This record gives sequence, structure tokens and C-alpha cells, in this order.
Amino acid sequence: MKNRLQINWDHFLANYWQKKPVILRKAFPDFIDPITPEELAGLAMEEELDSRIVTNKNGVWDAKFGPFTSYDKLGDSNWSLLVQAVDHWHQEAATIVEPFKVIPQWQFEDLMISYATKGAGVGPHIDNYDVFIIQGQGKRRWRVGDRNENYKQFNAHKALLHVEDYEPIIDEVMTAGDILYIPIGFPHNGESLNESLSYSVGFRTQTSQDLLSNFADYVIDNLPRGIFYQDPDLKLPADPYQLQQYELTKLQDQMIALIKDETLFNDWFGKHITQPMHELNIVPIDLPYQLAEFIARLQAGDLLYKVPSIRILKVGNNGYIHGEKINLPIDLINKLCTQQTVNHQDIRDNEIAMLDLINRGYWYFEDED
Ligand code: SIN
Ligand code: CO
Repeated sequence: MKNRLQINWDHFLANYWQKKPVILRKAFPDFIDPITPEELAGLAMEEELDSRIVTNKNGVWDAKFGPFTSYDKLGDSNWSLLVQAVDHWHQEAATIVEPFKVIPQWQFEDLMISYATKGAGVGPHIDNYDVFIIQGQGKRRWRVGDRNENYKQFNAHKALLHVEDYEPIIDEVMTAGDILYIPIGFPHNGESLNESLSYSVGFRTQTSQDLLSNFADYVIDNLPRGIFYQDPDLKLPADPYQLQQYELTKLQDQMIALIKDETLFNDWFGKHITQPMHELNIVPIDLPYQLAEFIARLQAGDLLYKVPSIRILKVGNNGYIHGEKINLPIDLINKLCTQQTVNHQDIRDNEIAMLDLINRGYWYFEDED
């Protein structure tokens, strides 16, 4: 079962992407929920998944974090269950993100699914990412305000950062197959009108702060010898206590030279951006495969499955996966990026390097799952 997405990407990018929120009615015509509330509740009982239950009973906000052991005492209204990175753990639910794989994948974060009862929601808030919220079963009323840096935010509960009242620019009820796209920074609030499911496909960019701090760590690890400021043409300044403009520029250039070093920058970014953002369903290998056994399975026609949503990307002619560089030719890396499975033919002549990735648990034979 695959839900079809009908969207004019060129029009969407030109008018809405990172510009303004929009509701795309019936973008998934004939939408069918790929997961049931019971299955979602089951996933939130697992330790590996990040989940929370948010309640707003009689105007009091509360949040509890999973794994959960029971849902008995919650009643039938004013609570919702939110589970992060479901695409890593539920194959059918993961199909929801497939049509969004046309967007640069380095920005993709995860699929969060929320189940909400009547009157439930997480309250008015602002997110640090762009999100496509797909309505599944049930109805939700969404109120989205304009972007404004002056909104006051406050903790309605220590785990719930809310935003003060805002004038809605969107105030609509969504039903199955509708999508609400919200760029970073726009306040929003979804209130469930009955039992409902919604699917949030999140895209996260990088802050300059994180980039600089992470790049600095990489530089320290990879260039342990100091690169010292030098000024062999120095002339005595009029005021030796005053930094001269050319000195400040030279200092800036010294730092920028590292960032502009393509080999360094690209390798750092490939490793940085493929670090997992959420726990992955990596199958632990008890006994590493030996080459002969590995090849025998491939020859028998067994397929290798990629761990769902493992981060794999290309920078220049190099591939990166899970924070590491991949030692394989680019043709094969292309297949590893786009295909969910590879067979013996796909990886022919690269069995040894591929074996290493299998023994790390990044691909697996089906019966190991
Ligand atoms: C929800 O699905 O309940 C919350 C999603 C959001 O507002 O980011
Ligand atoms: Co939100």
C-alpha cells in the first residue's frame, strides 16, 4: 500500500518553501493510514524510540516521556501521544516519507507521528524546523500565525515551550490526505476535534553556531598541529596596543582558509551531516560474516536491505554513511543511496568493502530482522 502525493513541486518551492505556511488540500488523495493507533502505542513502549504523552486537562499542561507501559488512565480526551523517528521502525509508516525524497536529503530529519484524542494537542508553539504535517484519520483544527521575532515564549510545563497568543493567518480544519506545510519560525497550534492521527515529515537545517563548533572539533582532531598566525612583513605600528585593520583581516582570512579548504570542508560535512539524529534500527551482528559465507548468500539470491532512514549522502565523488566515509565506487554509492535493497549483481567486485558495511549492521539479510 502506497499513498500517492500530488504536488506541483516547482510551484510549491517558488511560493511556499521556507517562505510561508500553506494547506495543500487532498495532496494525498484517498489517504490510507499506514499505521494504527495501537501499533503506534506499541512502538512507544519500546526503549529505542523517543515518545511523549502530552495532556491538557482542565487547562493544566503536562508531558511524560516514554517508554510507556500502559495507557489505561488517560481517559478519552485531551491527551496525545507523539512518537519520533517512526520511519526507522515501521516499514509501512516509512512509505509516507518516500514522496518527499525529492527534497535535499541532507535536510531530512524524521517522521514523527502523533495520535490525539478530542481536544488534544501540544499547545501553541514555534518549531526549529520545516514540517509537512499530513492529516490521517480524524480531524484537526490548525491555527498558524505569522513569523515574528518578538513573540514571547514561555514554559507552560518544563517540557513544553509555548508561545503567546497570535493572530492566525491560517485557521482551518484538516481531514485525511490534507497537508499543512509550516516553515521554521511560524507559530502554530493543532487541536484534535476527534480521535486523529497526523504525520510530521520534518526537515532541519544547520545553525551557524553548530556548524562552527562542529567544524572546530573536526579541525582539532584532523589537524592537531597548530597553524600559527604569521606576519613577516610587520612594520612597527604607531600604537602597538591597537589592533590594525589588516591584522584583523589576516586573522579572519586565516580562519576562512580552513573553511575554504575543499578537501577538509567536504570530508567534515559528509561525516557531520550523516551522523544519526535519532536511534536507528541497526541489527546487531553477533558473529561477523566471513566473506565466503556472505558471497554464498548473495549467490543464493538473498537481498541486502538498508537500515531504514540511515543517513547516506554524497559530497563530491565520495559517499558518507552514519558519520563515516564509504570506500566504494560512486556508481555503487548511487545505488546504495536510492535503492532500499541491493543484490549480488549490484555489488559485484566490491564484496569486501560491502561486507564491512554489513558487519557494521548498515545493511542486513532479511531473516536477521
Ligand atoms: C502534533 O502532531 O500533535 C504536533 C505537531 C506540531 O505541531 O509540530
Ligand atoms: Co510544531
